[in-house]
Amino acid sequence: MIEPDKLLDFIKQRRSIRAFEKSEITEDDIEMILEAGRWAPSASNRQPWEFIVIKDKEILKEIASSAMYGNFVKRAPLAIAIVGKKSISPNWYIIDTSLVSMNMMLIAWALGIGTCWIGSMDRKKAKDILKLNEDDYLLTILPFGYIKGSIPKPSLRKSMAEIKKEI
Ligand SMILES: Cc1cc2nc3c(=O)[nH]c(=O)nc-3n(C[C@H](O)[C@H](O)[C@H](O)COP(=O)(O)O)c2cc1C
Repeated sequence: MIEPDKLLDFIKQRRSIRAFEKSEITEDDIEMILEAGRWAPSASNRQPWEFIVIKDKEILKEIASSAMYGNFVKRAPLAIAIVGKKSISPNWYIIDTSLVSMNMMLIAWALGIGTCWIGSMDRKKAKDILKLNEDDYLLTILPFGYIKGSIPKPSLRKSMAEIKKEI
């Protein structure tokens, strides 16, 4: 077990990273990221997901052009598309795959690898690029790369008083 204080500090330290070193991510590190995703919890343990590892530079460029706020994806050496399978868990595929993405982001941070959730994208275009089925849900495409430059300052969080209610 990890010490709770250390885990909380770790969670607080994670930042979205949008600048990456050119160097390729090692296969061991890729496996770790995928493994962390694979162990995410899911409703009834249905695991309604697939992970597409994208290394092809042309595809990364095309994906970047489909993302409104994700042009930096083209500078990542790698991205992983997290695909939700509606047919496997129609009510939970979005929540389950979101949990996958958090696991992947946290393990990446532990590996010194930066990533950033890409939400604003033309999903139809991105799905076509990735040759996904009509029924597949493209949750996000996470770019991954060793962190370039300094780590951005933390973005503000709402205060506990603003969000905590007791009954
Ligand atoms: C659902 C979701 C969608 C997001 N979409 C984008 C995006 O399209 N482009 C981007 O640069 N960042 C995106 N982000 C990253 C957020 O801007 C970032 O998580 C937030 O500002 C907090 O910063 P932090 O991750 O460094 O703590 C997204 C995050 C989430 C959770």
